[in-house]
Amino acid sequence: MKILVINGPNLNMLGARDTNFYGSETMDDIESEMRSTYPQIEFDFYQSNIEGEIVNRVQSATGSFDALIINPAAYSHTSIAIRDALELCTIPKIEVHLSNIASRDDFRSKSLTASKTDGYITGFKKHGYFAAVFLIQRIMNEK
Ligand code: DQA
Repeated sequence: MKILVINGPNLNMLGARDTNFYGSETMDDIESEMRSTYPQIEFDFYQSNIEGEIVNRVQSATGSFDALIINPAAYSHTSIAIRDALELCTIPKIEVHLSNIASRDDFRSKSLTASKTDGYITGFKKHGYFAAVFLIQRIMNEK
């Protein structure tokens, strides 16, 4: 199984960001742990701070990957472009947020992108990415 993991703006700064919200691991730490936890899964990790680059990556996911895990970060709250790209993406897709976006600033409580995924996981720090893999495996087994 091939899973594309897309992380949006400022997630390259994990470790330096507020650890109460995001945990103390860097994105490299999370990537290594996911690769060692699921050696049978081929992961492609992609991070960008640029909206259009994320749109391009989402557009190219269908046909090349079995599933998509995406944390659009701040773009979740603003990006109709990423939302539209997700709408076009026909593989199973799960949105992940490290922090609990429902318990933070009002402007974070609404994700424009989540409703164009199969569902979203929010508030479990790095564990959200692992939960997403668990759910993708379950979804794929039903097919
Ligand atoms: C985030 C939540 C967003 O509101 C924020 O802008 C981020 C990270 C999260 O993973 O909790 O950069 O997506």
